[in-house]
Amino acid sequence: MGYDLHHGNAFQVLEEEYDENSIHAVVTDPPYGVVEFETANVEKMREGKGGVWRIPPELDGNKRKPLPRFTVLSDSDKEKLRNFFKTFGEAVERVLRPGGHMFVATTQLLMHEVSKQLDEAGLERRDVLVRKTKTLRGGDRPKGAHERYDMVSSMPRVYWEPWLLYRKPLDGRLQDTLDTWQTGGLRRESEERPFTDLLEDGKTPKAETEIVKNAHPDPDDAEAHPNLKPQYLMRELCHAALPLQKGVILDPFMGSGSTIAAVHALEYNAIGIELDDTFFNMAENAIPNLAEVDTPVETRGDFAQQGDDSASLTDFS
Ligand SMILES: C[S@@+](CC[C@H](N)C(=O)[O-])C[C@H]1O[C@@H](n2cnc3c(N)ncnc32)[C@H](O)[C@@H]1O
Repeated sequence: MGYDLHHGNAFQVLEEEYDENSIHAVVTDPPYGVVEFETANVEKMREGKGGVWRIPPELDGNKRKPLPRFTVLSDSDKEKLRNFFKTFGEAVERVLRPGGHMFVATTQLLMHEVSKQLDEAGLERRDVLVRKTKTLRGGDRPKGAHERYDMVSSMPRVYWEPWLLYRKPLDGRLQDTLDTWQTGGLRRESEERPFTDLLEDGKTPKAETEIVKNAHPDPDDAEAHPNLKPQYLMRELCHAALPLQKGVILDPFMGSGSTIAAVHALEYNAIGIELDDTFFNMAENAIPNLAEVDTPVETRGDFAQQGDDSASLTDFS
């Protein structure tokens, strides 16, 4: 078991380094609207002003972290997004083994655009998982007329995060695909309970945010990744992603490395890719410490039986 980290553009790395049908599952939190992680917008986020990143209003005197605003995307931004997810869908369709699953975090406002590109790349839509989590999106009163319309909000306050679940078509029946490729199904939580599409996990714990903050290469500028995902959630998804507890999980947009840490904690193999220098350095530093965090997932009975037959990354190359 182990992990390989690549600093570069995911599409180029996958094309140059990974063979067709070589990866068992993809678990990723991509740039939802694409433009928010373009260099100019990342710089604006780091400076705390302008671009698609907005600071939500202070609540109870608490300073809020910046959030990207997807309601401001222009037609050309949306076209860029479609092209990005088209290339992404095609790249994943090539490297995934038949029956391999992909979990993709998204947003209510853009998931239809992402989904269409993944459908067209030949992947099968299987579900939309609901991760219960209170966000700071939505629920605002009419701008400039808060008092006049004090009982009106522009859209619902968002209390859940969608995760698209896709699969590369099977090679024969499910049992054939499991035999040949070790993919096709989802691992159950236990013999009694299947993996479900309602994920109760809430906010990212402060201790995990602190780990990532401390992993920042410049201590004077230390901020956690704005989209850090909790270990409990990522381990739940990574556990479900490998039905036979064997294989490699890819996160092509790893940010500060929460997926890779989750895979490592479960003693599976992982591949992580990140384009941004600072986030890549943060991932390298944060993964070993995030992997040390305890969650209920790794205490499940099926880990006790896993024993010493866990494979190494090179077994799948
Ligand atoms: C939503 S964030 C992932 C955050 C991650 N879940 C975490 O816990 O830190 C998406 C990441 O994708 C990266 N990214 C954007 N385009 C990329 C590309 N073409 N190749 C690799 N990484 C890319 C961004 O720099 C950003 O860090």
